[in-house]
Amino acid sequence: MLLAGVLGVVAAAGLEPAGSRACVPCHAAIYRSYAATPMARTSGRVGAASSPERFERSEFTHARSGVRYRAVAQPDGIDLEFTRDSIRGRRRLDFYIGSGAVGRSYAFLSEGFLFQAPVSYYSAPARWDVSPGFGERDRIHLGRPIEPECLACHATGVRAVAATQNRYESTPFAEGGVGCERCHGPGARHIEAMARGDQASREIVQPARLDPERRDSVCAQCHLTGAARIARRGRSLTSFRPGERLRDDVVAFVRPGANELGLRVNSHFEKLAASGCKKASGDRFWCGSCHDPHSVPPAAERAAYFRGKCLACHEGAACRAAPAARAAAADDCAGCHMPRTDVVDVGHAVYTDHSIPPRPRASSAPAGRDATLVPFWSGAGDARDLALACAEVAAIEENERLRVRAFDLLAPLAPELAGDPAALEQLGFLYDRRGDDRSAIACYERAVAEDPARVVATVNLGGALARAGQLHAAIDRWRDALARNPGLELPRVYLAEAYAKLGLAPQARDAVRKGLEFYPDSPALRGLLARLPAKN
Ligand code: HEC
Ligand code: HEC
Ligand code: HEC
Ligand code: HEC
Ligand code: HEC
Ligand code: HEC
Ligand code: HEC
Repeated sequence: MLLAGVLGVVAAAGLEPAGSRACVPCHAAIYRSYAATPMARTSGRVGAASSPERFERSEFTHARSGVRYRAVAQPDGIDLEFTRDSIRGRRRLDFYIGSGAVGRSYAFLSEGFLFQAPVSYYSAPARWDVSPGFGERDRIHLGRPIEPECLACHATGVRAVAATQNRYESTPFAEGGVGCERCHGPGARHIEAMARGDQASREIVQPARLDPERRDSVCAQCHLTGAARIARRGRSLTSFRPGERLRDDVVAFVRPGANELGLRVNSHFEKLAASGCKKASGDRFWCGSCHDPHSVPPAAERAAYFRGKCLACHEGAACRAAPAARAAAADDCAGCHMPRTDVVDVGHAVYTDHSIPPRPRASSAPAGRDATLVPFWSGAGDARDLALACAEVAAIEENERLRVRAFDLLAPLAPELAGDPAALEQLGFLYDRRGDDRSAIACYERAVAEDPARVVATVNLGGALARAGQLHAAIDRWRDALARNPGLELPRVYLAEAYAKLGLAPQARDAVRKGLEFYPDSPALRGLLARLPAKN
C-alpha cells in the first residue's frame, strides 16, 4: 500500500500580525461590528467565548463503523467520548473551526500536533454527527492532521512549526477568526504612522482602492476554493498577502463547463462569475457590491439591505415579475433571484445561489467526474500546475482518467523539476501507482533531498527500501515521517511490523501503542499486538 495524499508545504508562519485589538483605539466602531460577524468568529479556543453548541442530542452511533460518540460539556470546554465494544476513549476538544452559522468542527492537540475531531456540531438540526469526510470510515480515526492551509482560511497569524505537517507552537494561531489584517495586510506600520499623525502615508491596504484583480484577490484567497488549489512553484497556499495578486501564489482549478451549465460549483466566486450582473458589469461588480465586510445585516433588515444593493444598478421596474407576486414576496429581490438551498453540511458549500438567475434553476446536479480541469480566474497556470491539480483531484476521487492525465502532463517535465519538491513528490507518487518502482524512487529521493518534510515521499521511500530488504534504512525513513506527523497510520503499522520482524518486541509494542492512540480499533495494529510475544 502507498501513502496517498496531497500534502501542502508547511509554510513559514509569516509576519506576526499586530492583532485586531490594536485597531480598537482608533476604529472602535468597525471593530465592534466586525467582531459580531461569522468571519470574525470562525475559530478559537473551545470554551473561551459564548458557544452555540447544544448538548441535548450529543450522543449518537455512527452506523458505518458502529462507534458510539458522545460530546460532553465540561465547565472549561468539551470532551468527546467514543466507545466501540470494549474500546473506549476520550479527547478534550481544544479548538473550534467554524462560527456555527452552519456548524463547527473541532481540533485537538496531541504533543503539539493538531488533529481534526471525527465529530462536528450541526447548528440547524442542533445535533452532533461525524465530520465531513469521515462518514465512510469503518473505524475510529483520530489521525487526520489539521494542516496550516486549513487554519490559513479560518484563523490569523498561524504559527506552524517548519518541516512538520501539523505541529504548531503552543498556541496554533495568534488570533482566532479572520482578523483585520487578513484583508488589510500587516498593520504595525500603519499604526505607527497614524500615531505620528502622518496621514499622508497610510501604510495599509484599503481593498476597495486596489485594482480589481488585487481587490478581488483579498476575498478569493479564502473564498475561491474550486476543485483544487495549487501552490505555484516556490510558493505556498498560505503565502498570499493583501495587495498582491492571488495568481502569483495559487491557481484554482474547476470542472470545465460547470458555470455555463449551472452545475454544482465549489465556491461563491465561481457562481458569481456566472451571473448576468457580473457578465454585464465586469470589474465594477464584486463581493463588496453586496457585502459589507465589517457587518452582516440582522435577519429583519436582510431583504431591505440587499434590495438597496440591487437598486444601486437596477431600476425596480426592470424586474419582469408580476407586481402582485413581488408584493407578496415583500419585494425581496435576493429572496427570488438568489434562492437558498436547504443543504445542511459543514463541508464547503454555497447555500445562496450567487449566479443570480432570472428564475430559480432546477436543483443543480453534481459536477461530472470527467478527466479535465480548467484554471479559473486566478491566472492560467502552466502544465505543471494543471498536472498537480489533476493528480490531487484524482487522489481524492480515485479517478483513474485524471491520474493518467496528470502523469502525461508531468512525466515529460521531469528534467525541469529541480527545485520543485512538491511536483517531484507527486510525480513519484504517479510512478508508484503505475508500478514503476525505480522511477518512483528516483523522484522521491530528489523530492526529499530538496525538502526533507515531504512526508509522502519519505514514507514510500521507506516502503521501497523495505521491499529491497533494507529494513533498518526503511525504519529510519518511517521514524522521520512520524516525527513530522505522529498520526500517520501506514508508517506506524510498517514500523511495528518491521520491529517485530527484527525480533525487537519492545520497540514493536511501543509503535503499536502509539498507533492505537490515533487508531484505537485498527485491526492491523490490534492483530500485531496479539501476535507479539507477551511482555516479560
Ligand atoms: C493610532 C490610530 C490608529 C490605529 C491604532 C489604527 N488606525 Fe487605521 N486609520 C487611522 C486614521 C487616522 C486613518 C485615516 C482617517 C480615517 O479613515 O479615519 C486610518 C485609516 C485606515 C484605513 C483606510 C486607509 C485608506 O487608505 O483609506 C484602514 C483600512 C485602516 N485604517 C485599518 C486599520 C487597521 C486594520 C488597524 C489595526 C491593525 C488600524 N487601522 C489601526 C488611525 C489608526
Ligand atoms: C480555501 C479556504 C478554506 C480552507 C482551506 C478551509 N476552509 Fe472551511 N470555510 C471556508 C469558507 C470560505 C467558508 C464559508 C462557507 C463557504 O464558502 O463554503 C468555510 C466554512 C467552514 C465551516 C462551516 C462554518 C459555518 O458555520 O458557517 C466549517 C466547519 C469549516 N469551514 C471547517 C474547515 C476545516 C476543518 C478546514 C480544514 C481541515 C477548512 N474548513 C478548510 C474556507 C476554507
Ligand atoms: C473580510 C475582509 C475585511 C476584514 C476582515 C476587515 N476589513 Fe476593513 N475593509 C475591508 C474592505 C473591502 C474595505 C473597503 C470597503 C469599501 O470602501 O467599500 C474596508 C475598509 C476599511 C476601512 C476604511 C473605510 C471605512 O469603512 O472607514 C477601515 C478603517 C477598516 N476597513 C478597518 C478595519 C478594521 C479595524 C478591521 C478589523 C476589526 C477590518 N477593517 C476588518 C475588508 C475587511
Ligand atoms: C482569511 C480568509 C477569509 C478572507 C480573506 C475572507 N473571508 Fe469571508 N469567510 C471566511 C470564512 C472562513 C467564512 C465562514 C465563517 C463561518 O465560520 O461561518 C467566511 C464567511 C463569509 C461570509 C458569510 C458570513 C457573513 O459574514 O455574512 C461572507 C458574506 C463573506 N465571508 C464575505 C467575504 C468578503 C466580501 C471578503 C473580501 C472582502 C472575504 N469574505 C474575505 C474566510 C475569509
Ligand atoms: C454592479 C451593478 C449590479 C448590481 C449591484 C446588481 N446587478 Fe443585476 N445586473 C446588472 C447588469 C448590468 C445586468 C445586465 C443588464 C440587465 O439585465 O439589466 C444585470 C442582470 C441581472 C439579471 C438578469 C440576469 C440574466 O441572466 O438574464 C437579474 C435577474 C439581476 N441582474 C438581478 C439582480 C439582483 C437581484 C441584484 C441584487 C441582489 C442585482 N442584480 C445586483 C448589474 C447589477
Ligand atoms: C448581488 C449581491 C451579492 C454579491 C455580489 C455577493 N453576494 Fe454573497 N450573498 C448575497 C446574499 C443575498 C446572501 C444571503 C445572505 C443571507 O441569507 O443572510 C449571500 C451569502 C453569502 C455567504 C453565506 C453563505 C451562503 O451561501 O449563504 C457567503 C460566504 C457569501 N455570500 C460570499 C460571497 C462572496 C465571496 C462574494 C464575491 C465572490 C459574494 N458573496 C458576492 C449576495 C451577494
Ligand atoms: C416574487 C419574486 C421576485 C421578486 C421579489 C423580484 N423578482 Fe426580478 N424577476 C422575477 C422573475 C420570475 C423574473 C423573470 C421573468 C421572466 O423572465 O419571465 C424576474 C426578472 C428580473 C430581471 C431580468 C429582466 C430581464 O430583462 O430579463 C431583473 C433585472 C430583475 N428581475 C431584478 C429584480 C430586482 C432588482 C428586484 C428587487 C427590486 C426583483 N427583481 C424582485 C422574480 C422576482
